[in-house]
Amino acid sequence: MEEDLIVGFIGAGKMAFGIAKGLLVSGNVKPEKVMASAPSNNNLYKFKEAGMKTTHCNTSVVKSCNVLFLSVKPPILPEVLRDIAPFVTPTHLIVSVAAGVTIETLEKFLPVGTKVLRMMPNLPCVVQQGSMVFCRGSNAGDPEAALLKSLVSPCGLCEETPESYVDIHTGISGSGVAYVYLFAEALTEGGIKMGMPYDLSKKLVAHTLLGAAKMILETGDHPGKLKTDVCTPGGTTINGVYELEKGNLRCTVMNAVEAATNRARELGKK
Ligand SMILES: NC(=O)c1ccc[n+]([C@@H]2O[C@H](COP(=O)([O-])OP(=O)(O)OC[C@H]3O[C@@H](n4cnc5c(N)ncnc54)[C@H](OP(=O)(O)O)[C@@H]3O)[C@@H](O)[C@H]2O)c1
Repeated sequence: MEEDLIVGFIGAGKMAFGIAKGLLVSGNVKPEKVMASAPSNNNLYKFKEAGMKTTHCNTSVVKSCNVLFLSVKPPILPEVLRDIAPFVTPTHLIVSVAAGVTIETLEKFLPVGTKVLRMMPNLPCVVQQGSMVFCRGSNAGDPEAALLKSLVSPCGLCEETPESYVDIHTGISGSGVAYVYLFAEALTEGGIKMGMPYDLSKKLVAHTLLGAAKMILETGDHPGKLKTDVCTPGGTTINGVYELEKGNLRCTVMNAVEAATNRARELGKK
């Protein structure tokens, strides 16, 4: 990692802290080489406690850092871009994580020639198990893509994709974690309904999800095959699967992905 790299976060909420934590865990970036800005101390204190620099002034972050993560909510981003644009130089690498905000919009607000990457993370970055995709703006090349990958790889999986996939990734991973939590809650409550204490049921469910995810990654098998492998003819699992099919689980989940992707696209047009 380059010695003179100073990483800034404009917006210091959940996502910014998740990414910042990953940077520090890797040891590639020292806490004193990270700076975050936000209007209040509501979230900044966490950065301060971890030894990172903090400020209420966005332009101070721009002037002090060469890699800038834009991590404010999408509706606030245009106002932030307008404020920081006069201070952005060709040496900056701008990485936006705002859902739905396109490269075209980002480049429109920033000086011509600015190196821009658009990244879509998800919240498990906080525990270094994020699922991230990114795409390049017109002035970002291989060195910028490689720099982002090496910076955020401690936060989880990071794949470069065409921009058209980024909103889909919001639908399956950014928002997708919430669907998985909903499923986890239901599975846990199923355990409670059948007489198991909450804590034990929750712990077993979390490990079931972890184990199932690891099987998909490590075997490389289609999830459908893995499901069939668990279904003994006339056994317990196929009876449970039948109930999920009656409840239209797969179609409902696909509709949820479509709704979240479309919402991300709508937000991008605002
Ligand atoms: N959370 C997710 O799962 C997730 C997943 C993918 C992408 N994202 C994207 O990540 C971005 C941040 O989301 P989040 O969940 O981290 O939101 P969040 O927790 O609400 O954090 C937003 C941060 O922005 C700060 N802020 C508000 N106005 C500002 C301004 N004018 N200048 C500088 N900072 C300002 C807030 O300040 P205070 O601390 O003072 O309130 C807060 O620190 C969003 O664009 C979202 O689309 C989030």
